[in-house]
Amino acid sequence: MVSLSLLFHLLLLAFVDLSTSTTEYLKLPLLHKTPFPTPLQSLSSDLQRLSLLHHSHHRHQNHRRTSSKSPLMSGASSGSGQYFVSIRLGSPPQTLLLVADTGSDLTWVRCSACKTNCSIHPPGSTFLARHSTTFSPTHCFSSLCQLVPQPNPNPCNHTRLHSTCRYEYVYSDGSKTSGFFSKETTTLNTSSGREMKLKSIAFGCGFHASGPSLIGSSFNGASGVMGLGRGPISFASQLGRRFGRSFSYCLLDYTLSPPPTSYLMIGDVVSTKKDNKSMMSFTPLLINPEAPTFYYISIKGVFVDGVKLHIDPSVWSLDELGNGGTVIDSGTTLTFLTEPAYREILSAFKREVKLPSPTPGGASTQSGFDLCVNVTGVSRPRFPRLSLELGGESLYSPPPRNYFIDISEGIKCLAIQPVEAESGRFSVIGNLMQQGFLLEFDRGKSRLGFSRRGCAVS
Ligand SMILES: *[C@@H]1O[C@H](CO)[C@@H](O)[C@H](O)[C@H]1NC(C)=O
Ligand SMILES: *[C@@H]1O[C@H](CO)[C@@H](O)[C@H](O)[C@H]1NC(C)=O
Ligand SMILES: *[C@@H]1O[C@H](CO)[C@@H](O)[C@H](O)[C@H]1NC(C)=O
Ligand SMILES: *[C@@H]1O[C@H](CO)[C@@H](O)[C@H](O)[C@H]1NC(C)=O
Ligand SMILES: *[C@@H]1O[C@H](CO)[C@@H](O)[C@H](O)[C@H]1NC(C)=O
Repeated sequence: MVSLSLLFHLLLLAFVDLSTSTTEYLKLPLLHKTPFPTPLQSLSSDLQRLSLLHHSHHRHQNHRRTSSKSPLMSGASSGSGQYFVSIRLGSPPQTLLLVADTGSDLTWVRCSACKTNCSIHPPGSTFLARHSTTFSPTHCFSSLCQLVPQPNPNPCNHTRLHSTCRYEYVYSDGSKTSGFFSKETTTLNTSSGREMKLKSIAFGCGFHASGPSLIGSSFNGASGVMGLGRGPISFASQLGRRFGRSFSYCLLDYTLSPPPTSYLMIGDVVSTKKDNKSMMSFTPLLINPEAPTFYYISIKGVFVDGVKLHIDPSVWSLDELGNGGTVIDSGTTLTFLTEPAYREILSAFKREVKLPSPTPGGASTQSGFDLCVNVTGVSRPRFPRLSLELGGESLYSPPPRNYFIDISEGIKCLAIQPVEAESGRFSVIGNLMQQGFLLEFDRGKSRLGFSRRGCAVS
């Protein structure tokens, strides 16, 4: 029933303009920001959260969350280590900075209905709907409106001509945005440097935002979120119908100086460079019907310094209730692994690492990480190598800087955290672990492509 109606809506959402050449794709620069002055502060705040902007989880997890006490969720302050994307919305275009999030579907911006007294909103902080000639709210009875979560009670009156579509979108930590689900023109750059106007992009014009993820310094000056999840309203889904059902990004190490520019690319990037296709590895993207927004992958095994660890494969599995599994997410900084696997990985790292421990009681003790080393004065510190064996017989072998991070001068810690297996929570591969890889989310073939050398391709 649900899937049938979704299919119907998808058809209605389909765009008329199919003339775009498939060799072109959209190329949007990604900016990186950390909200706090020191990496240590930023990380300890990141530790508080499991996953930043995940749209409300399914029932099972919600139930369990209230009964299980997880230290990771307490006081969920968030927003550190996010990647931002700049978009131009409306006519004439207004430039806004959004959090790029593969863990949620809705794209929304902070909106104002001001007409004349708009100076209270600093430029770029808020979308001024009345200053755009192409802004159009959708009707609450339209099929498009049925695709977004609506407030309860819903003030929709379908006999009235101008009953606007209201949405209310809740993230996993209870943060919430609400407003009018609307349509706008967005102006984006293509790979060939052309400016392209895309009409009727559905987005949330947000009049209210609340909760730790969305207000205050933790949101880091962003004006909203670009949802890149799997659902039909996500930015990737809407644009995918024009540009091929893939999007890719390459997150480059932002601690380098000068920081390189990372890009989000919407469209078939890799297939347009056929020669380079062979250097990609692939793993299937799995669907969890209980959390259809997320991109799940499967972990089959873990290697530390080439030795396969004794981890029961069942600890990684996604069960029929939708519990467990592994999500790949741009909106989470650290990597969170299910506890039985985490314990094995930690002890293997402790065995293999041949670097001095920091003196107890210092910053590393307070950091919340279980393994830290002091590399002060060590000329070429050697870190154990981590490899993840993924579904589809591919091997993900990130460089040590993706999982050993600086928490203070000369002190590096293993940036992996455990999640309680019993809580039904899933593992998350965060954005740090993704750095330096071209990641292609190929929704058409339902697979994730990754390549260490791919960042130069795009
Ligand atoms: C908007 O500006 C006008 C003229 O400056 C002023 O009279 C009015 O009170 C202002 N309205 C608000 C809501 O601030
Ligand atoms: C819906 O709007 C119509 C026309 O304005 C009005 O007559 C009717 O009472 C409204 N219904 C509800 C439930 O508010
Ligand atoms: C789009 O491209 C133009 C011209 O190449 C450039 O000046 C502009 O900064 C780009 N805008 C964005 C948002 O990348
Ligand atoms: C990828 O393709 C480009 C252009 O086709 C080529 O110049 C480059 O050498 C290729 N890279 C690799 C690693 O094969
Ligand atoms: C790290 O090692 C250096 C050199 O041995 C030492 O001076 C420093 O106090 C150590 N720092 C910590 C936090 O252990």
